[in-house]
Amino acid sequence: MNQAVILAGGQGKRMKAPIPKPMFKVLGEPMLEWVLGACEQAGLSRICVVTGYEAQQIEDYLGDRCRTALQAERLGTGHAVQQTIPFLQEDTAGSTLVLCGDAPFIDSETIADSLARHEKEGNAVTVITANVEQPFGYGRILRTDSGIAGIVEEKDATDEQRRITEINSGCYWFRTADLLKLLGKLENNNAQNEYYLTDTIAIALKDGLRAGAYCSHNPDVVLGANDRKGLLKLNTAARMAVLHQHMANGVGFACTDGIIIERSVKIGAGTEILPNTILRGNTVIGENCVIGPGCVVEDTVIGDRVTLNTVQAYQSVIDSDVKIGPFVHIRPDSHICSGAKIGDFVEIKNTTVGEDTAIAHLAYLGDSDIGKDVNIGCGCVTVNFDGVKKSRCVIGDHAFVGCNTNLIAPVELGKHAYTAAGTTVTTDVPDYALAIDRGVLHIKDGYTLRKFAVKGKKGSDSSK
Ligand code: UD1
Ligand code: CA
Repeated sequence: MNQAVILAGGQGKRMKAPIPKPMFKVLGEPMLEWVLGACEQAGLSRICVVTGYEAQQIEDYLGDRCRTALQAERLGTGHAVQQTIPFLQEDTAGSTLVLCGDAPFIDSETIADSLARHEKEGNAVTVITANVEQPFGYGRILRTDSGIAGIVEEKDATDEQRRITEINSGCYWFRTADLLKLLGKLENNNAQNEYYLTDTIAIALKDGLRAGAYCSHNPDVVLGANDRKGLLKLNTAARMAVLHQHMANGVGFACTDGIIIERSVKIGAGTEILPNTILRGNTVIGENCVIGPGCVVEDTVIGDRVTLNTVQAYQSVIDSDVKIGPFVHIRPDSHICSGAKIGDFVEIKNTTVGEDTAIAHLAYLGDSDIGKDVNIGCGCVTVNFDGVKKSRCVIGDHAFVGCNTNLIAPVELGKHAYTAAGTTVTTDVPDYALAIDRGVLHIKDGYTLRKFAVKGKKGSDSSK
């Protein structure tokens, strides 16, 4: 069957961090993930990743998603593919796609179309190429009238060859059986003393095999990053491509400043995204919402007509017609039901907020089940942690929780129950009951007059 080998052994010294280059992120996902995704989308399921520098990081990321082969020393791209020989020998019937793990924009269409060409022409190897304005640093494609003659690396090229603008993307289709033969013939007599995978083309031609080139319509297939500046360029390109896609789907952006939306996010038509908003992971947003300014939303499913203003929401569900913000933190495993309103400086954690419930300001609600049409007053706290264990609070439908109520978990307020402002609730409150916990209020007439008269001051304690 057809299969893929992804080269991911390189270090990326100029990134100045102990991370393998393919693990640097573009729009929140490692570059390797983009490449793997393109392969999987093109229907390739047998994949081997060549690791090298900080190999364990890649192993940990991949888990058992695909095979890996360790390249203990970095002796070039040809040497890297040689490390996969045992993998290649397991199935020599079809073709093998070789790709670079640090060129994230290879796409499934280019993969499929180049394979079709490769098979149609009966090639031993088909190089995926692109025409670029600035070919510096890339391998140049040497064309002949009948096809291609080979690839010459920048460092080995003549001045004339350096003017060629058709470059090697670093992706190739090989007939697997031929690749195994060609790998055995690589030598390292070149400017970098490396085993170049690119030499396979000239070797194939010399052996009477066919070699071809497929020029991709997508010039971004070659884009990679050698340093942080290059990585920023990739991020910017990916970011704008995603925003343009959402615009085509009817999502509004009056200004795209500071808006970062990962590829995996889905947004319904009519929704408006305001500046400084970051949408990550498996976030799904419905139609006609206003999200932002200043929101971070991760792995959260949001209904229609929701307003989030300066909200951070993680791994939660927010139903339709909910209004949240400003300055609200929705922590994981929360569910905000439709019609609820949550105002400024509220933190919600692992809590269900029922339909049409209002939490207007300054509250902490953790590990709780709050019913519908509840009013949570200013300053209320569910005291869910006793220093040893966490417990839950239950607040019944239509309850009215007065300002500065502390609910000491585990505790349950019945439906239509009231708590008076400042009450600390330590036992369950039945349906329709009022919980009131008040000390006696003492009023001492003329107190400050007497206090400051003794000290010879009038009505102020500024001398303290
Ligand atoms: C390579 C090509 C060049 C092409 C360019 C596209 C060769 C000799 N040259 O050059 O024609 O235009 O890619 O980007 O192949 N890697 C390993 N082990 C190694 C060396 C590299 O795993 O020993 C991996 C790197 O992590 C990277 C990929 O192979 O993912 C390409 O390596 P890189 O060093 O970037 O190749 P270039 O010199 O850029
Ligand atoms: Ca490179």
